[in-house]
Order: sequence, then structure tokens, then C-alpha cells
Amino acid sequence: MLRFDVITIFPDLLGPYLAESILARAQEKGLLEVHVHDLRDYTTDRHKSVDDRPYGGGPGMVMMPGPIFTAVEDIEAKADVKPRIVLLTPQGRTFTQSLAAEFSNQPRLMLVCGRYEGFDERVRTGLAADEISIGDYVLTGGELPAAVIIAATARLLPGVLGHEDSARDDSFSLDGRLDHPQYTRPADFRGMKVPQVLLSGHHQAIEDWRRQHRLARTRERRPDILCRD
Ligand code: ADE
Repeated sequence: MLRFDVITIFPDLLGPYLAESILARAQEKGLLEVHVHDLRDYTTDRHKSVDDRPYGGGPGMVMMPGPIFTAVEDIEAKADVKPRIVLLTPQGRTFTQSLAAEFSNQPRLMLVCGRYEGFDERVRTGLAADEISIGDYVLTGGELPAAVIIAATARLLPGVLGHEDSARDDSFSLDGRLDHPQYTRPADFRGMKVPQVLLSGHHQAIEDWRRQHRLARTRERRPDILCRD
């Protein structure tokens, strides 16, 4: 069982995505729990402020440490194990399949979604938090990245995927090789034919064809992830 706590100023953004398909079933089966917390519930002023202007000047607003510390400490106080704390920001280290695997072995993860120009640095240092980015582009906030991390991590939990898919995942995960091309019926679609070898029933030839295409594709598109055969 893995429990996520997500801290955000837009708690309604995550609900619909988590309520569908594999993630919904994982929660029904008790393999995954996702608790979403509204950061504004942890503010102390009349305006429910979560951000303020940066010291030293400059554009934009910075997320204040106060409400985030209060939220994290409140959630931690009710937890039986200390959750690992992750801040979602474009300044973080890049999320990968191997980090998803590492996360899937944790009992609890706390995801703190950033907005505006980012977090007051004392959030990271004071909470001993990891900063994670989902890629080299800037979104309007950390809510989509939180959903990405939950989805990539949850499908690695034992029992979340069918047996077939989990086995597949071990040999074809992104850390090693891209997947080979896939085809389904019809065998001839508008004159575009499925490669003959895939219709041959010759298992060894099919496996060779697939391995060759995984390698060629990875070389061409993602030489950065290619390791030796
Ligand atoms: N917030 C804004 N952009 C982001 C990104 N690429 N990854 C994580 N959090 C973000």
C-alpha cells in the first residue's frame, strides 16, 4: 500500500483524473490512497494568503513557508511513518522511470505543488524535501506533475496492473529501450500492410524483429538512454 498526500491550492484539479480507470481500481483494491489537501486550509490570515513578493525584488510571487510547514506538520503528526516530501518545481531533478520505481517502494509520499515563481527556499531546506521536475518545460503549477508522478508510480505497485502488463514493463521500461512498433487488425489498412513476419506465427523470428526495431528506434530517437546490449 502506498499513500500519497498532495498539498495544492487547486484541490479540485486532481480528483477527476484519479477517479478514472487503473488509478480508481487501485484505490478500490486498497493498493493506493491519494489524499488531497487544500493549502488555504492552513493559512492564518483573512485573505488565506499563500504567497508574497520576493525579497530583493523582481516579478511574480513566492510561496510562503508558513502555510506549507503547517500543512506538512499537521499531516505528519497524524502519520505512523514519516512521509518522504517532494516539491514539484521546474528547478528539481528530472523524474524518470527509475525514480518512479524508487517511489513505488515507499510507504508514503507527500507531494507539494508549487505555483507562481516557486517556493521560499526554506521550504526545501527546512523540510528536507526533494525537488522534482517532470521535464524541461514550465507549467502553470505542480498539479499536473503530481498527477504524472502518481500515475507512473501507482502502476508499478504489485497488483495494480494485470499480470501481462507488469511482466512487459520489466523488459521494456524506458530506462533500457523504447518499445517496438505494434500492429493490430486489419492486416491491410488502406494499403498499409502489417510486416509479414508478425503474421508468420514464427516466434523466434518475431522476437528477433522486435528486438531489432527496439534497438533501431532507440538509437534514432533516444540515443541518450541507450546502453549496451
Ligand atoms: N511546475 C511547473 N513546471 C513544472 C515541471 N516541469 N515539473 C514540476 N513542477 C512544475
